[in-house]
Amino acid sequence: MKITKTICALASLLITTQFAQAQTWPTKTLTWIVPFAAGGPTDAMARDIADKVSRHLGQTVIIENTAGAGGTLGAGKAAKANPDGYTFLVGHMGYMGAAPALYKKLSYDPVKDFEAVFRFPDTPLVLLVPKTSPYKTADALIAAAKASPKKINFGNAGVGSTSHLIAALFESKAGIDVTPISYKGAAPAMNDLVGGQVDAMFDQSNTALPQVTGGRLNAIALTSLTPMPVQYPNVPALAEKTLPGFEAATWYGLYAPKGVAKDVVQKLHQAYLKALTDKDWTKRMAAQGINLLPEAQYAPEAFAKHTAAEVDRWRQVATDAKIQID
Ligand code: MLT
Repeated sequence: MKITKTICALASLLITTQFAQAQTWPTKTLTWIVPFAAGGPTDAMARDIADKVSRHLGQTVIIENTAGAGGTLGAGKAAKANPDGYTFLVGHMGYMGAAPALYKKLSYDPVKDFEAVFRFPDTPLVLLVPKTSPYKTADALIAAAKASPKKINFGNAGVGSTSHLIAALFESKAGIDVTPISYKGAAPAMNDLVGGQVDAMFDQSNTALPQVTGGRLNAIALTSLTPMPVQYPNVPALAEKTLPGFEAATWYGLYAPKGVAKDVVQKLHQAYLKALTDKDWTKRMAAQGINLLPEAQYAPEAFAKHTAAEVDRWRQVATDAKIQID
């Protein structure tokens, strides 16, 4: 009886505290954990969105880069954070979708340990090679990889990152065997790609664009179903001829540790929707090849459903493509 009373009192204290928090929130700086090195696609997307959202919240959002293990390190840290509405995770398809299928031991559950807040727009990827690479097309790279298994190496942003997963899917569909080289994010991997220490890499098409237009890298194929003539003129989609049906895009979004007040989620989602009414901003994203989504897909409920569906989908994809980590 006494124990029941204590539990009831604690539960009502929790609800009252959450209510009081939600009334005044946000009263201090928010932290968004980005689990990769600064300067990469997840970091760039997070900083851009954090900047716009913070203007509508009236509070600063800082980005904390906790890099390592393909994003699973930072995600594990976020899962254990206080759900007080001040610490969030910027999640993506790898560590919030594919990781449960890839890691035997994962310190968090993307569905049970997090509350989905809102989804970001998606980005397709591009297959890149150094400027001096002998591979001018994806077909030439595939032919060379078939002739010499394991000889060609592919840089990636960490084990289980999207650059790793999409390269593994590409390998499986093309019937080749390459050597992966993992970094703590796309930014350091791209440095080595530009320097020629890495033979090839899939990177997000938006952040790779300046490297390609600046003449430091060659883009040889896209993972979008159709070409992107404005951003990548003369670069074919893999699906067009090389690997019919091949399509991949990275999804991202904001998550809070489970237990965060519902009002906090709603306020953040509303601030994001307000930010998206800035047409100059959305036009700029579209010009970079970022796929803006129908508004309903950005919503917390839709994003939670999407996350759960992706966890299930990746179990199948990883089995079919024989992608394994440990
Ligand atoms: C990835 O490949 O998962 C991302 O590009 C990593 C990053 O943002 O650095």
